[in-house]
Amino acid sequence: MQELLEKIEKRRTFAIISHPDAGKTTLTEKLLLYGGAIHLAGSVKARKSNKHAVSDWMEIEKQRGISVTSSVLQFDYAGHRVNILDTPGHQDFSEDTYRTLMAADSAVMLIDAAKGVEPQTKKLFWVCHRRKLPIFTFVNKLDRYGRNPFDLMAELEQVLGIHAYPINWPIGIDGNYKGVYDRIKKQIELFEDDNSHGSKILKSTTGSLDDPQIIEALGQELYDNLCNDIELLDLAGDEFDMTRVNNGELTPLFFGSAMTNFGVRSFLEKFLELSPQPQPRILQNGEILDPSTEEFSAFVFKIQANMNPAHRDRIAFMRICSGVFEKGMSVYHKQGGKVVKLSQPQQFLAQERTIVEKAYPGDIIGVFDPGIFGIGDSLSDEKMKVQFEDFPVFPPEIFARVQPKDSLKRKQFVKGITQLAQEGAIQVFEQKDIGIESFIVGVVGVLQLEVLEYRLINEYSAQLLMNQLAYTVARWVYAEDKKLIDNIKGLDSGMLVYDQKDRPVILVNNEWSLNWILERNPGIQFLTVPSDV
Ligand code: G4P
Repeated sequence: MQELLEKIEKRRTFAIISHPDAGKTTLTEKLLLYGGAIHLAGSVKARKSNKHAVSDWMEIEKQRGISVTSSVLQFDYAGHRVNILDTPGHQDFSEDTYRTLMAADSAVMLIDAAKGVEPQTKKLFWVCHRRKLPIFTFVNKLDRYGRNPFDLMAELEQVLGIHAYPINWPIGIDGNYKGVYDRIKKQIELFEDDNSHGSKILKSTTGSLDDPQIIEALGQELYDNLCNDIELLDLAGDEFDMTRVNNGELTPLFFGSAMTNFGVRSFLEKFLELSPQPQPRILQNGEILDPSTEEFSAFVFKIQANMNPAHRDRIAFMRICSGVFEKGMSVYHKQGGKVVKLSQPQQFLAQERTIVEKAYPGDIIGVFDPGIFGIGDSLSDEKMKVQFEDFPVFPPEIFARVQPKDSLKRKQFVKGITQLAQEGAIQVFEQKDIGIESFIVGVVGVLQLEVLEYRLINEYSAQLLMNQLAYTVARWVYAEDKKLIDNIKGLDSGMLVYDQKDRPVILVNNEWSLNWILERNPGIQFLTVPSDV
């Protein structure tokens, strides 16, 4: 028990959320650099000449320069075990990000100093906020022109409704930043530019606010400005209050530059000190499961097929919620109603995988999936048989009819579509009794359709015919009397399909059509999320 408590206390599991291009890949890489997991961060130039960031592993990501899948990266730093849940930056893959956030205990919100709060930041912020995740904010790209830090704080408050407590404060203006002032340690850190362009750990000197050498290095004007800023923050700013941070009402704010490594170390250290250890999880029946419960439990938040093209395997990623995972363990799989052996348990550093002997709450492991797991599935010690709360399902907004191009490849095509749906890469619907073999695929972003086509060809050798449909709205249909659904009226501009669990779903062009159909079908309800009742 004591060992379990100690392991829990050391763990930090978080996701980085941001708008594309704010620097998430760069920051992730730098955290790995400081964590000793990599020794030389591939600078952006190196990445452009075909070396890719360690967190990218799918071919398509390399080609498009976007991060499609979420990878899980782990390293140790100053006695902590750090699990970073990397998420796709592109908004077309936001569903994957939402699901990954279910496995996090906190989030780091990355903001571009020149751009402030951007649309995708806002969306992801709300997903975290609804779950009351503590959010830490890192204002990035301090090495070049950025907005006034006071303005950025005001924007967080106005746009996101969250107050910020700056833990450090930038010294300098308009891209000519010299360092940061640490408000907790009351210490100035001045960065030394070593011309390594951020590929190595940055050197810096530290000193107190009244250190004459530091004042001289800064120059009187910068020094005076800094003193004024600090005074203003102390007088007019929020008090630091950990309870408010843990409730997601106050965000500890950091300034830095992931590219040049400004402020990366101090961010990492303070973040590890302040961010929560693995938190209790909510069960389907409303009970709370504490991580220190001795029996093992975990839930699947991501499934990925064919991560390694040489093996054609399928991996289910799970977050451990309580107890200890041990290699070779058999556990109860609630959704399958069976005891299963978790085989080939692995931890990940992008392409590098290592076999896990033991893992603890907060850790993410990937296990070999023979095709039995689904997103949100619960696994636990046989004594407990727990079921965790449901994962949010997001209604797709883009639909396409897909068919195999070559009917001889039908088998591969169906296998590919089914596996990619289980993986959560697409949602699949079927029309009943139409006599042709075709599926309706639903996605949130159009790039997901491109990925579907690419992966079907590359991983399943199946070409497809795809016809995008005009529908933009999907609603699950509910009626006490099921016959009402079979005889639904006014469907001229819509389509009735069935999801993978055979639940009826209606697809229409717009909200107006929904109302039109509702008016003609008393007894029928439309739901934005599936309901099994
Ligand atoms: P993402 O994962 O959030 O999409 O962002 P990524 O790390 O790929 O960074 C996007 C761009 O921003 C990259 O430039 C990267 O070098 C740059 N960047 C990241 N952190 C910093 C920083 O602290 N300062 C500055 N100045 N730039 C930073 P890129 O690949 O050259 O793309 P682009 O600039 O040509 O669009």
